Amino acid sequence: MSRMSLNREKVFDPLLRGIHAWNGIAILLLVISAQLAAWVEFTPEASVLWRLHVWAGDALTIGLVARLAWGINGPPHASLAALWHAPAWWQAMRTRRWFTEPDAYGHHPLASAVYLLFYLIVLIMALTGMALAAIDQGRGPLYDWLGHDVLMKPWFATPHDVLEEFVIGFVLIHIAALIAHEARHGVPLAQAMVSGYQYRKERQ
Ligand code: HEM
Ligand code: HEM
Repeated sequence: MSRMSLNREKVFDPLLRGIHAWNGIAILLLVISAQLAAWVEFTPEASVLWRLHVWAGDALTIGLVARLAWGINGPPHASLAALWHAPAWWQAMRTRRWFTEPDAYGHHPLASAVYLLFYLIVLIMALTGMALAAIDQGRGPLYDWLGHDVLMKPWFATPHDVLEEFVIGFVLIHIAALIAHEARHGVPLAQAMVSGYQYRKERQ
């Protein structure tokens, strides 16, 4: 029977892991509050849920700013540059091999492209959400510009509504990919954003 030996290294720092958990929880609360509010529409409970939605939205905005700041000032594995792997993306497009086993420490090079796209989408969600908060609830930083301006609502509500599907899609694919990588490559992976350790097979 052959035994595989694994090396491990501390890769993800505590603040990056904290921001990941904070943003993940905020996004779950945003999706759940929006779904529930749409379900109980035109009731007093719906207004409470939309207010909670905006609080969770404020939490997400703070989390995104924190991620950006840590991406500029944090350690190498948290840096924004650690998410940029253009040569690996071109290579994957040429060879059509997307589901590769990571050999170096740090973010999976191909998953990184999806993370960057995801950050762009949630940034648009935060901006359109702030606009909707000013229009519907008369609050937030965009109040002076958009406060109660219902004629402007479709410009923000449509992208906000459409991109929600991408946010849900990302979360499902992200978790499915973590499970699939573990099953296929036999290396602990999902725990890395909890413990900070990544495991790699020892090269013989
Ligand atoms: C991942 C992030 C988010 C998701 C998945 C999400 C999801 C949704 C959905 C599905 C709706 C209903 C859209 C419609 O049918 O018109 C909605 C509305 C809204 N969202 Fe978000 N949202 C997110 C982020 C935010 C943020 C960051 C804020 C504010 C800071 C925000 C504030 C609002 C407001 C004010 C509404 C309109 C509520 C109403 O019609 O009274 N959202 N959101
Ligand atoms: C709402 C749920 C979630 C969202 C929105 C989310 C989002 C993200 C994002 C944006 C990244 C890139 C990290 C960075 O900024 O540097 C990431 C990486 C990661 N996440 Fe999540 N995540 C979620 C749930 C989870 C869960 C439940 C786990 C498992 C415990 C997990 C494990 C990981 C791991 C291990 C990485 C690094 C993977 C790699 O090597 O590339 N995530 N996640």
